[in-house]
Amino acid sequence: MEEKTIEAGDLILLTSQEGKEFLVTAEERVFGTHMGNLDLGSLLGMPWGSTVTTHKGKAFYLLKPSLHDLTRHIKRQTQIIFPKDLGFILMKLDVGPGKTIVECGTGSGSLTLALAWMVGSTGRVISYEKEEKFALLAQQNLKRVGLDQRVVFKIKNAREGFDEEGVDALFLDLRTPWEYLDQAHSALGGGKTLGILVPTTNQVTKALEKMEEGNFAYPEVCEILLRYYKPNAERLRPQDRMVAHTGFLIFARKVYKNPKSIINERREKP
Ligand SMILES: C[S@@+](CC[C@H](N)C(=O)[O-])C[C@H]1O[C@@H](n2cnc3c(N)ncnc32)[C@H](O)[C@@H]1O
Repeated sequence: MEEKTIEAGDLILLTSQEGKEFLVTAEERVFGTHMGNLDLGSLLGMPWGSTVTTHKGKAFYLLKPSLHDLTRHIKRQTQIIFPKDLGFILMKLDVGPGKTIVECGTGSGSLTLALAWMVGSTGRVISYEKEEKFALLAQQNLKRVGLDQRVVFKIKNAREGFDEEGVDALFLDLRTPWEYLDQAHSALGGGKTLGILVPTTNQVTKALEKMEEGNFAYPEVCEILLRYYKPNAERLRPQDRMVAHTGFLIFARKVYKNPKSIINERREKP
């Protein structure tokens, strides 16, 4: 396989040996840091993985940012969904090329970014947010990484319902998800997965109580724990601190309590 080189407009993760990171765009300009200046234009045509030095002699690796890197570098004005939770959410919602996924609320766009990455150029993410300022922030975050065209941002309260029907999956990341389960049910395709993230067990209880009314089956509740190790070959041991809690995840499948009434309703539609 031919080795790829850096082209104008590429996002580059400049990573120092101490792990300091900067996300920059390959373009004709000088990037200044406390570790020295770097002429970004001079990086064009260099192979990924190259090492370059600033005018102060500090070394940086030129790395292509992964989805994990991009998510860690978004501008935040809200609590965001962390990579450890994102990976599992994407699997449980069965997100892949060509899928149509609805999420609410958009917040800073961490989940939006992961969804947009996964649905590919043929898929669609429809992202609902009641606060215009957060929708704009998320849009900027997605634009920076070139994925904004895959997302339709809607400034709308979940209370008013979702405009879509038959979507492949739906995720609620807002404080009172149990208030919007009927709206989520209307938007989801039959048998498709609803996902929810809430930070407290009280919220999980309320969501489960609402689900017990029967429109969602097989509820699962879990949390993801991730423990990093100090990568020292001779003294390998866990990091002293970890992110112990982000949120609880709930997943359930949309079902019809009374399938016959749905079929009749559809038949009666002109
Ligand atoms: C925790 S943030 C979402 C973070 C986002 N998932 C991320 O990964 O960056 C919750 C967002 O839900 C929005 N929100 C809360 N209630 C809402 C509602 N009823 N309809 C639409 N958006 C709502 C809030 O304004 C806030 O931006």
